[in-house]
Amino acid sequence: MLIDSAGRAGVCHKEFVTGRRRAPSGGRRCYQVCCGQAHNPGGVSAVRSGSVFVGRYRELTLLREGLGQLAHGSPMITSVVGEAGIGKTALVSQAMDSAAGLGIRVARSSAVEGGGSPAYWLWKDVLRQLSIGDQIDFDDPGNFDQQESGGATAGPIYAETRPQRVFRFYEAVTDCLRAHALEAPLLIIFDDLHWADDESLRLLAHFVRGLGGIDSGIGLILAYRDRPGGGPDPFSDAILQTARAAGSESIRLGPFSKDESAEVVQLITRDSERIGTGESGELFERTGGNPLFVTEIARMAAAGNDDDRPPHELPATVQLAINDRLRVLSPSVIELLETASLAHGAVTPAVLLDVMKTWTMEEVHGALGEATESRFLIEASEGFSAPGVSRSTIAARPDASAGSAGHTGASEWNFRHAVVQEAMASHISTGRRARIHAAYADALESGRQSADSGNSEALLFHALRAGPLIENGRVVRYLLFAARAAMRSLAFERAAGHFLGVIELSEAEEVDGSLAEAMHGFALAGSGMGRDQQIAD
Ligand SMILES: Nc1ncnc2c1ncn2[C@@H]1O[C@H](COP(=O)(O)OP(=O)(O)OP(=O)(O)O)[C@@H](O)[C@H]1O
Ligand SMILES: [Mg+2]
Repeated sequence: MLIDSAGRAGVCHKEFVTGRRRAPSGGRRCYQVCCGQAHNPGGVSAVRSGSVFVGRYRELTLLREGLGQLAHGSPMITSVVGEAGIGKTALVSQAMDSAAGLGIRVARSSAVEGGGSPAYWLWKDVLRQLSIGDQIDFDDPGNFDQQESGGATAGPIYAETRPQRVFRFYEAVTDCLRAHALEAPLLIIFDDLHWADDESLRLLAHFVRGLGGIDSGIGLILAYRDRPGGGPDPFSDAILQTARAAGSESIRLGPFSKDESAEVVQLITRDSERIGTGESGELFERTGGNPLFVTEIARMAAAGNDDDRPPHELPATVQLAINDRLRVLSPSVIELLETASLAHGAVTPAVLLDVMKTWTMEEVHGALGEATESRFLIEASEGFSAPGVSRSTIAARPDASAGSAGHTGASEWNFRHAVVQEAMASHISTGRRARIHAAYADALESGRQSADSGNSEALLFHALRAGPLIENGRVVRYLLFAARAAMRSLAFERAAGHFLGVIELSEAEEVDGSLAEAMHGFALAGSGMGRDQQIAD
């Protein structure tokens, strides 16, 4: 983040990638991470065009082996599974290219979100792409016997039950595709299957039962997100039948590795300012390696900036992906996540209980459990920790696990992806944000064991963000706590910054004897910094 002499915010490419915030006491830290000159002279072009693809060697090998067999008539059934933005469509697109190179005909259809698609949409779309759409009347499958007899009067010789008619309709579609695959191997790809209409899914369950193990020359790739449930619904049944089919393979996609993340950032930003190894490493930490988050933030960085853009804005695509995930959560879990998004590091049930004043401990644990199951939060030891934030800051509370009767899991939680945390925090109105920070400061202060215990940075963090809800006298106290703690750990520069904060505040209004301590401390910290410099020299 760059602040020019007129106080306007400009955005550094690197800062977009790292998501670094402006230090509360000024822009000093920003200048350290940036290149030190006003940005966006307008010369950086967007790199949206031209897609890149990195990694996934094992997955591509598996898919290509299957396609190689399909090219010789053997069946292929592969599921590609993973969370939103993990790269299912990107991987499937690579498979399509490989299939085309092997002389395999490909028909690909994507289910449409929102449930508005007509019955049998996926199949209708596939048959249309293969130019055989006129062979089946999907709009009137119950009329199938007449379609089969060319509309002549020769109907079935006995009255069929509805399931029998549906079965014959499914078989007709299957036969139609099999006949088509006699000419050349055929690959059918259904993407975003989690949104498919029920009729398409039921037909898929039938189709896949008859596909496994038979040399029909038909391959099937299904891409879908994990969906909670697994009950007796058409989606679960289709997935189950797919998993049971002979020769069925499943690919579960995980996040990029650190190297893959760095590679994709470099490929996307190569026409603009290079993003260094350190910055792309931070982007990896911030995004957890989710390809959508990595690529979109890198693209935004590469596309340059304008002065009106808020300093910590996430790309709209990332916001949308996150909003999409939030839809499955209950309002109380969203409230808990928003509160947690403003925490300084990991959260504990005890602190959340203090901050969310009307909640019971049972409700806190219930919401934490749901947020963990939905993969928004993870145990602190596994997830992201804000740089420079010690997990002990909040966990140091003596009652950190109080009230967790019956809870056997971890006692602190982190967001799985820092970008999700950022997105959630950005949804909170300014007034509510200040109230939450003030509540954190109250909670942390009431849990302090001694004046200088380990959470002084967290206290200061919240007090500075609570605005007028925390009076200056308290901020000064927290600044001194943090300054003393910094001195003890020989972090002289940090200590000097805090002492300076006390001195600045005391100019605004009368502050007790803290000013004397601050001036003395500032001098001491300064000599400590000088000593560090001497050692470095
Ligand atoms: N292997 C990869 N190399 C480079 N970029 C990738 C790779 N995988 C995914 N991406 C990028 O990440 C973004 C999200 O990928 P993709 O659309 O394939 O995710 P998805 O799993 O299909 O998500 P959804 O469930 O929302 O459909 C895309 O912009 C894509 O370009
Ligand atoms: Mg997709």
